Amino acid sequence: MSLRLATLSLALAVAGLSASTPAMASVHGNAAAGKDKAKVCAACHGDGNKTLDGTYPKLAGQYPDYLSKALHDYKAGKRKNVIMGGQAANLSEQDIADLTEYFGSLSGGIHDLTGHNR
Ligand code: HEC
Repeated sequence: MSLRLATLSLALAVAGLSASTPAMASVHGNAAAGKDKAKVCAACHGDGNKTLDGTYPKLAGQYPDYLSKALHDYKAGKRKNVIMGGQAANLSEQDIADLTEYFGSLSGGIHDLTGHNR
């Protein structure tokens, strides 16, 4: 590969990368739409606080960007869980934004190790 060609492909790769990042960040979540989409999640996560049992994580009051990262990781297979991998597989960027906005907007019992509530 000539140097000029290599430089061109690098430039294209960088352009592709920077073009995809703002597109993801520009998706705004809508909590009302998220509430509707969260009905399917309720089977295990309950209302976000009262989950099916203690093995299902509480989602209410969690930071939306944390929930978003978790869902993206399940979807990409970076965080492996048979159940959540299946749940996240078909979520769109808009679904993830809406769902995480909704769960993040709820008051929750999530606290840090000092007992400080978010
Ligand atoms: C069939 C049961 C089930 C359903 C339905 C389900 N989940 Fe989960 N979810 C789980 C389990 C089990 C875990 C813990 C997996 C692990 O250990 O990584 C989990 C973990 C998560 C986490 C990571 C929480 C954390 O604290 O790291 C998020 C976020 C999440 N689920 C969101 C959702 C959303 C949004 C939906 C609906 C679209 C949904 N889940 C539907 C069972 C379910």
